[in-house]
Parts: sequence; structure tokens; C-alpha cells
Amino acid sequence: MGNIDLKGRDFLKLLDYTPEEIEYLVDLAADLKFMKKKGVLVDKLRGKNIALIFEKTSTRTRCSFEVAAHDLGMGTTYLDPKSSQIGKKESIADTARVLCGMFDGIEYRGFGQEIVEELAHYATVPVWNGLTNEFHPTQMIADLLTIKEELGRIKDVRVVYLGDARYNMANSWMVTCAKMGMHLTLCSNKAYFPDEKLTATCREIAAKTGGSITLTDDPVEGTKNQDVVYTDVWVSMGEPDEAWAERIRDLSPYQVNKAVMERAGKDAIFMHCLPAFHDLKTEIGKEKGEQFGFTELEVTDEVFESSQSVVFKEAENRMHTIKAIMAATMGAF
Ligand code: CP
Ligand code: NVA
Repeated sequence: MGNIDLKGRDFLKLLDYTPEEIEYLVDLAADLKFMKKKGVLVDKLRGKNIALIFEKTSTRTRCSFEVAAHDLGMGTTYLDPKSSQIGKKESIADTARVLCGMFDGIEYRGFGQEIVEELAHYATVPVWNGLTNEFHPTQMIADLLTIKEELGRIKDVRVVYLGDARYNMANSWMVTCAKMGMHLTLCSNKAYFPDEKLTATCREIAAKTGGSITLTDDPVEGTKNQDVVYTDVWVSMGEPDEAWAERIRDLSPYQVNKAVMERAGKDAIFMHCLPAFHDLKTEIGKEKGEQFGFTELEVTDEVFESSQSVVFKEAENRMHTIKAIMAATMGAF
């Protein structure tokens, strides 16, 4: 661990990182979390500034970057989906070169992975992917920290992911399990199975690390004897409104409910990147619930609120892990 140096690196997707580097970030986050709880200030990046570009909305990721940056002694500038010139009057390449003159790091949340890759290509400071359609790598470091805290290990952990298996979270889980020697089951309607090329790449990596990736459309077989039961929303940010009807029709058999958790086992934990539709206490939840006749979607309220659910610990870990990613890539340690 002592010889790992991530200074100057971008953080765009976990495919770019080795298992040792990933574990280093998880362990650094655990150390930073410990120090924060003890009240020890780790403001090693005082005087630096970062830009936070959000072309999609956020609670956890934005707050994590802002609080973590503040804890490290840095200033932040938030660019929201509407009020900057990015992509509308100014290209990504020009934006990257402008921002590098003012900032020491750039976070980007938006649409295609190629946009954050282009930003990183032109930027001379570290660029961090705060979620694209394809990947959500900062979420994965938080999820690994949570798994390590809850289960005491990462390698060989069995994870079942239920729901839309073609999008950022399922893709990220494939890469993570492959890299870390974990066993992933993607459990979904066959029409929602992941990209074949990415699956093949991940299986090649898994063959070297002792991990595995299984695809199944059987929600009974797929959820038996698992350590982690994971799900995500069925309609992601930026997807069209028309997607709701087909997702509810196609993905309802893959809801995480009591039966799923019982099959997984009493020691299994439930995780979700959040936000979640587990009740109708949100504007969209209420509107869609009335339209389609549901009260809960990808996870039941019973499971979400159960003792097996670690979703709020997971959310807190976003901040500690994003702090570790920034600290390491900005050369604080
Ligand atoms: N999990 C996650 O990325 O949450 P936000 O969309 O609130 O940032
Ligand atoms: N798949 C979800 C993840 C949110 C953290 C989305 O892209 O909206």
C-alpha cells in the first residue's frame, strides 16, 4: 500500500484502476473517516479550489464533494445544469482549458462517458466522474467501504444486483466485482442485460482475480445465498418519461422485497445508491404511483427500513470516499 501514488490521476471509471489502487482508496477513506469522527482536522489541501459541474441533479454526490473539499481546506464552485456556458456556447475542450487556469480539480456529472473522458483529456488537473450514463465510480468506492465495514472483507463477497442491468450502476458493479475478485449476479429481464463487450471485458478481468459475473433472468435462483442485495431506480436521470410504463412492466419481477431478502439469507445486507422509490413520499413517486398503481417500486418500504438495510451508512460513506479520491489524486498524501 505504501508504494501507491495516485497524484495527478483522473478518476473516470474503475477499469482504469488496479485492484490495489482501489483497495488503497477504500482504506484511505476508512482512515479519513476515523479521523473525522475523532475531530482531527485533515486540511492538507488548504489554498486549493475545485469546480463541480453538475449537468444532472444530485444530493449525495454534490454534498459529498462540497463537505469533503471543505474538510480538506479547499474552496468549491458549483456549476448547475442551467447557468454555465458548458456544451451550449462553449465546447468541453475549451471549458476544460478555461477551468484548469482557475481550479486544481474538476468534478463532472453528466450524460455520455465520452464527455468526461474528453474533459479529462484537455484538463491538466485531476477530473473526477460524478456519474455518467455508463459509470458511477465514486459510488463504488463508497459501496466497497460499506461492504468492508459490514462484512469485514471485499474479496469473494457475493453481490446480486436486481433491476436495470444496462446502466451506470450495473456496469460499475460488473467492473468492481471483476477487479476485486467478487461474485456478481446481475438479475434482470433479458432485454436489460448489459453490453456484451463490457461483459466480456469484465469476465476476462474476473478470470484473473477469482471473481465471476453471472447473468440471469430468474429472480428466485439469482437471489439465493447472497451477501449483498443491491438495486437502483428503474428509470435513471435523463431517461424519457415514456420509459416508466415499460420499466414497471419489465422489471417488477425484480423488486427487492422480503422474499428476496429471505432467499439471500439472514446475514445479507441491502444496499441502494439512492434516491429510492420505496414509498410515495416524493413528488415523482406520488405522481407515478397514482398513474401506474404502485406504492413502492424497486424496493419495498419494509426492506428499505429493515435492519438489513445499510443505505444511510452507504450514503455517509460517499463523503469519506470522495474525500479519499480527491486527497489521493491531488497528492495530499
Ligand atoms: N447516489 C447518488 O449519486 O446520489 P445523488 O444523485 O443524490 O448524488
Ligand atoms: N442509475 C441512477 C443512479 C443514481 C445515483 C441514475 O443514473 O439516475
